[in-house]
This record gives sequence, C-alpha cells and structure tokens, in this order.
Amino acid sequence: MKRHPMIRRFSTLFTSLFMATVANAQKSSPGPVFRLDGGNATYAFGVNERGDLQTLYWGGRIGSQDAIPPAHSFPEWASFDSTNTTTPQEYSGWGAGLFTEPALKITFADGTRDLALRFVNATPDGTQATDVLLKDISRDIFVTLHYSMDAETGILGRSAKIVNREKLPVMIEQMAAAQWTLPPARYTLSYLTGRWAGEWTLNQGLIRPGARIIESRRGTTGHQANPWFAISRDTSQNPGGIPTAPEESGEVWFGALAWSGSWRFTIDETQFDFVRMTGGFNPFDFGYKLNPGESLESPVFYGGYSNHGLGGASRLLHRFEIAHILPQAPNPRPRPVIYNSWEATEFNVSEAAQIALAEKAASIGVDRFVMDDGWFGQRKDDHAGLGDWYVNPQKFPNGLKPVIDKVHSLGMDFGLWVEPEMVNPDSDLYRKHPEWVLNFPGRPRTEQRNQLVLNLARPDVKQYIEGFLNKLLSENDIAFLKWDYNRNWSEPGWDHLPPDEQKKIYVEFIRNLYAILADLRKKHPKVEIESCSGGGGRVDLGILRYTDEVWPSDNTDPFDRLSMQDGFTYAYTPQVMMAWVTDSPHWLNSRSTTLAYRMLSSMQGSLGIGANLNNWTPEEFATAKRLIAAYHAVQRTIAQGDLYRLISPRNGSEFSSTETVSRDKSQAVVFAFTHSTQQGRGFPLLQLQGLDPNAEYTLTWIEGTARAGTPDRASGAWWMNHGIDLDLRGDFVAAAFRLDQRR
Ligand code: GLA
Repeated sequence: MKRHPMIRRFSTLFTSLFMATVANAQKSSPGPVFRLDGGNATYAFGVNERGDLQTLYWGGRIGSQDAIPPAHSFPEWASFDSTNTTTPQEYSGWGAGLFTEPALKITFADGTRDLALRFVNATPDGTQATDVLLKDISRDIFVTLHYSMDAETGILGRSAKIVNREKLPVMIEQMAAAQWTLPPARYTLSYLTGRWAGEWTLNQGLIRPGARIIESRRGTTGHQANPWFAISRDTSQNPGGIPTAPEESGEVWFGALAWSGSWRFTIDETQFDFVRMTGGFNPFDFGYKLNPGESLESPVFYGGYSNHGLGGASRLLHRFEIAHILPQAPNPRPRPVIYNSWEATEFNVSEAAQIALAEKAASIGVDRFVMDDGWFGQRKDDHAGLGDWYVNPQKFPNGLKPVIDKVHSLGMDFGLWVEPEMVNPDSDLYRKHPEWVLNFPGRPRTEQRNQLVLNLARPDVKQYIEGFLNKLLSENDIAFLKWDYNRNWSEPGWDHLPPDEQKKIYVEFIRNLYAILADLRKKHPKVEIESCSGGGGRVDLGILRYTDEVWPSDNTDPFDRLSMQDGFTYAYTPQVMMAWVTDSPHWLNSRSTTLAYRMLSSMQGSLGIGANLNNWTPEEFATAKRLIAAYHAVQRTIAQGDLYRLISPRNGSEFSSTETVSRDKSQAVVFAFTHSTQQGRGFPLLQLQGLDPNAEYTLTWIEGTARAGTPDRASGAWWMNHGIDLDLRGDFVAAAFRLDQRR
C-alpha cells in the first residue's frame, strides 16, 4: 500500500529511536518529550511546535538510553483535514476543525463551541507518574492529565481533570478519561458483550475504517458490554483471511475503564489508518455544568501492553488488579467458600430453614453462609419490600441473631443480601418518599422487576442508605454483604435541580455509591462486599476498588459457565470470580450434569455452593466435601496465580482446559472438560505452560486419571514439552490435577 509521507513519518516515530540520555521528562525542540516505563512497556508523548500534546509511542519497553524523537505536528491533508485532525493527540478538544473523536467538548456561556488545548507545564513526580497541564488558547479552561505507570506490569493509569476558571459557567458535553493511539497496521479487536444470564461473550474482529462504539447508556456498567478491550497486532499476512488474536504470542494493547456508570469506548480507524481508542463518560445524554471555580474529574482509564498475546495481557491485568485495585490489595485473601440458598429457596427464607441449610453447609467445609433476598420488610416475592431494611418479624421473630449465632457456632461467618439503591413502589419507603426515585415529573415511572431506582445523587437518599447499612452492620455480626442492583435506569430525572444541572446525575450517583462503599469499609473494616447486578451487570475496575468479589452471572449452568468464565478472565482475575455449584438439571438450560463436573467448573474461580442441600444424597455430600478440601489446598494458586487458557471452550469447542501456575512456580492446577466425545476422539495432548523447566513436579489427581504410563513425577520441561495425555471421554466430563514442585 502506498502511504502518504506523513503516515510514513509517524510510523517511523513509533519504530526508530535514537540514542541519547533520557530523563523522565526531557526537554528538546520543539517541546518536551515525556516517557513512562514500567514492566515490559514504554509510553511516550511530547509537545509539538504548535503546543499540542502528541502521542509518540506505546509498546514494548525500549532502552533507557534510547531517546524518543520530539513531536512534530502533521500537515493538513489537502484542504479538507486540518492539522488538528491529522495529528494524533493525547487529549483533543473539539475545535479548530477536529473530525476525529474528541476527548473534550465544551459549550461556553456565550455560545462558543471551540476548544483548542495547548501545553502549559508538567510536574513530573518520580519516574512513574506525570501531571500535564493544558489550557485553551484563549479561555480559562484548564485540563490536568494524570499519568501513572505501574512499575511491575507497565499498566498505565490515565485520567483528566477539567477546571473552569472562566467568570461564567460552561457545559461539558463530552469528556473522556483518555485517548490512546496505535500506528497504522492490521489489528484485531477483542471485546466483551452479553445480556442477563449470558454475560462475558468474547467477540473478535478486524478493526476496519470507521468507528466502533462499545458502551452502556444504562446509568450503570451493564450486562450488554463490559468496559474492557484488547487490540492484537494481526501479523497473519493474510489480508482477506479471518482475523487472528493469538492467545500466547504477539503484541496486544488492552484497556479497562474504572467506572460503574454509563460509559463509552470509541474505537476508530481514522482516515489516516491510525487506531484511536477514546473512553470515559458516555456522552449520550451527558451534560455537566461547571460553575466558575468548579472542576470535574474523569474516571481512570487503565491501559497496558503485552507481547505474549491475550494470555499475557490478562495475566498482567490480573496481577495489577490484585496488587493495586482490590480493597485488600496487595494481598487480598482468597475468597471464603460460600453457601447461598437463593437457588434453593428463593424468597422463602426463615430461621429454621436457614439453620438447617447452615448445618449441612458446614458439614462439607463451607466457610461462609450467606442469606439472600427475602429477609427484610414485607418481602414475599419481588413485588414488595425493597427499601424497608428491617428484619421481617414473621420470618425472623427473634431478629437475625439466632441464625448468625448458629452459623458462627458451626465455624462459618455470616453474610447478607442487600439491594440498597432500589425501592418497590409497594414499600413504606416509597409511600413516604415518592420523590426519592429517578423520575421526570408527570411522566410514568417505568418499573422493572417491580422496582424503581432511588436517586442516589440526592444527599438525603445517600444519607438514608448509609444510615440503614451502618445500623445493620453495627447491630449484627455480619462479615459480608452481597450488594445487588437489579435494574437499569429509566426516566433519569433529578427533579429538584434546575434543568441544566440535572444530567450531573450520571456522575454524582456513581460518586455517591463509591463514597458510601468507602465509608462502610472504613467504619466496618472486617466487612467484605460482593458486587452483583442480576449477575454480571456491574463488574468494572471502579467498583472493584470497593468490593472484594463479583457475581459474574445468574446463569450457573456449569457448561455455560466454562465459556463465560473464559470471557470473564480476559478482563478480571479469578480471585473475584464467584462461581456456585447449583442443582441439576439446571433451571435455565435443563441440562443434567454430575456433581463432580459442576464442582470442577466452579473450582476454576472462587467456589461457592448454591444447591438445595436438603435434596443431596450422602454420596453427593461426600463428593462435595472431598472436592472442597482439595480446592482449599490449591485455592490461592487458582485465584491469584498466572492463568493459561490452554484450550478455549468458545465456539462450540468439544474440549476446554485451563492451567494456573502460582507466582513462585511451585504449584500448577489444571482443569479439563469434555463437552461430548465424538467419533471416539480423545482429549488433545495438554502441553502445560509457565512451569520451571528445571524443577521436578509431582502429579496429584483431584478428579480423573491419566493414561497408563503417565509419570507421577517429571520435570517442568517434561510437562510442558512432552505434555500429558488425559483419558476424558463422555458427555460433560471433567478432570483436574495439581503439580507440586519437589523442593
Ligand atoms: C439477583 C441476583 C441473584 C439473587 C436475586 C435475589 O438476580 O443476581 O443472585 O440474589 O437477585 O432477588
């Protein structure tokens, strides 16, 4: 392909580097160049002669002595595309003839809609972080871009803060957290989509000219898409062929937005063949009025680079989440094995029935007993009670204490379900405060699951929620909250504010949610929290700063879960991925599976039991007890080790397998699943990964057997090169084993 000289020059900037002394921020003509290094990645940008902050490099780590050539703006393209459009910028204002996706779009009080941001100064603070100040060419709009690079993983956190120092208010109509640019090449985009009970579908396709929008307009993260992406360099040399995104090789750039409200990613192959990713608040229905002196801070958009394929990218993300995002970072404890009776009893909870289940759960080695929906207000089904957070006196005449005491006496801790942001119209709370919900006056209030969304942006609603949660946690010995959120927004009005302030709800609601969670954790440091939203509707790096785990899906079918868990782990660590074993046949798919198969499917994440234990046979209790004990022994490796997706369950695969290796390589745990044996085909040879080739590992079966002749012990090199041959035939059969280094 013949390229315009400008494009060739940009490509050269990405690839050819000159020797020189490099400081974190180095001065050179025409403007300074900034460089951040971490893990195996380098990120660089510079100030061009116009004063724009221009992207220079994002990729594999380059030598510390290598200089990054300074930024030069690109010329206009004939008379149709201005320099502002042709030059890839770090954070572009909409103005001066910008036709690519802007980061920031503002309307000034006098109607001016033009923003041209220029570099003012930068405050390097250490070698891993920089704050860069930009300002409009004439108006007092200031933008600070924060950059913070993780030294271990090379994951870069980027965010922006807008300050209005004008004398009049301005309206922010669009605001990204960051924009990322890749040079012209062939790329495959991977992203996650879904729906209720069908979350975590990994989609892959070539990036083509034009923009692809991945978003939520729902006021929350949403099931429909998840704020994560990965872009693999496609080196298949097969322009017409199917896109490739190798699992364990090749370059991958990935990103995840830490925000639990409406969000948007625009992934754009520009007219000039660059790939641009812009992400932040969803500009749909957005409008944030900034009064003089006020500021607005974006969420953090994290981005990383791996040259070990999608597998390498997800291992970096997992490490980063464990070390920097989770509330217990850098050492979150593996999740307790929970029992939850939701699928067994639904709303029909009572003191006697919960105690009976707790006794059975304790007998198989469960660590935590969780009571789900149905314990409060007049909650018999999903028509009433949300909002009334008092213990239902008919179901629990003596309060929660007898159940909690019993659970403790059985050696477990106690958790409880809440859905704080919601209200049923049939509740005392709604009868008293109908004005507390999202609404437009005089318009219908659309119910979903018979409930409405409380306007958490309101200080009085925030205070109410904080009040009842603090009371609940102070009066009862509760170790865990399952925090649910079972619908998306409609009629998102905030009716006591002036019309031009109401859309602030998209930001203030989420800020208040985070503030409540942070405050609860501070006041009740022992309480752990799960983010649930009818399954996986609120999973993102924003909520994960305050919650220890998430519920990936209400779909607990063990076979469906294999591909959902596969999709989930591209973005999130198994440490937070709760996985329950429930009843067979499964309520959603009517699929029957053995208990061992169900257990092994769930043991790939953070194990829980959600089956009706009242119906279990003695054999089932024995199987569960044996496998929970085996799980406890390897749980830290599974939850926090390096995950290798050896065989993907996606696309109707007959087989699937995962392997997780502990950080110190002393242990590996392998799971293998056959969907249905066809034509007598055996399980593919499993060549393991990530072991120490020179260490010796002993093999212990958790479930299943190897073919005759498989050694009980061999070197890491043997397991990785020769591989292991499993005998795994039948329909919905599973095996698992561990390898332990002999020291
Ligand atoms: C949601 C959750 C379920 C359960 C119910 C209770 O659907 O995802 O696990 O807690 O609510 O109503």
